[in-house]
Amino acid sequence: MTVTTADDYVEFCAYLRSLTGIDLLQYKRPQMERRLRTFYASQGVHSLSGAVEHLRIQPQSLEQLLDRITINVSQLWRNPELWELVAAELLPALARQGQIRAWSAGCSYGAEAYTLATICRQAVPAARATILGTDIDKRMVARARLGFFSDEDARSAPPRLLSAGFERVQDGWRAKLELRAMTRFDQGDLLRTQPRPRSYDLILCRNTVIYFAEPIRDELHRRLAEAVRPGGFLVIGSTERVSNPAGLGLSLQHPFIYRKA
Ligand SMILES: C[S@@+](CC[C@H](N)C(=O)[O-])C[C@H]1O[C@@H](n2cnc3c(N)ncnc32)[C@H](O)[C@@H]1O
Repeated sequence: MTVTTADDYVEFCAYLRSLTGIDLLQYKRPQMERRLRTFYASQGVHSLSGAVEHLRIQPQSLEQLLDRITINVSQLWRNPELWELVAAELLPALARQGQIRAWSAGCSYGAEAYTLATICRQAVPAARATILGTDIDKRMVARARLGFFSDEDARSAPPRLLSAGFERVQDGWRAKLELRAMTRFDQGDLLRTQPRPRSYDLILCRNTVIYFAEPIRDELHRRLAEAVRPGGFLVIGSTERVSNPAGLGLSLQHPFIYRKA
């Protein structure tokens, strides 16, 4: 029989935070807890106190656990219709200033940042665009810096744009040097980061806050909105919402695209 403490979830989260800095207590508990318990049950570990022990004895199992909880799913040109709008409306509006400072917040292995870089080169070649990608998972940041993508990652990419930005390599695609020169990737925790007010023209934060508890999500949206300069844009995921856009100085421009007043 497995004995579990009343809140072995909290105990587990505290231990994971001490190992990785990731604070799962800020994420939606039901989903995260279910995910953790199912993962450990499949390893024959039936309590989260047992999971702490398992991690102590087998530190190498952390990799697999991170794969399970950070959910790094991404792809090039994810939601292609959004990228058409970015190219046709957002970038030309932003390029009037000559430079575009963009941030892919929760960038995973960089697909979003390189997609944006390709589109900037095509749609507004004269603008000086710089794109920062940040993710809490340092393994993803390391991958993003390499700029390699599988054929599966490229499945929604328009062929002409794909070959404009990427070179064919064995088993996939590699971002061309000029895209790598426009992008930079750093590890960063969105729950703690305090970006400078008005420091970005465009922030993409898609498919990351879905895992956050609502007050945490709203507080992040507040900081992101503050970091967008007037006239700039905040783009969120297609299943997400900003709960009080007007209160943050944002107006809905298209579904999931907000403009800062
Ligand atoms: C599903 S991916 C989304 C990638 C990309 N934005 C997209 O839409 O294709 C979510 C990413 O958010 C990252 N993430 C989760 N919590 C985070 C946090 N607190 N700070 C920064 N990144 C976080 C995960 O590591 C993961 O790579």
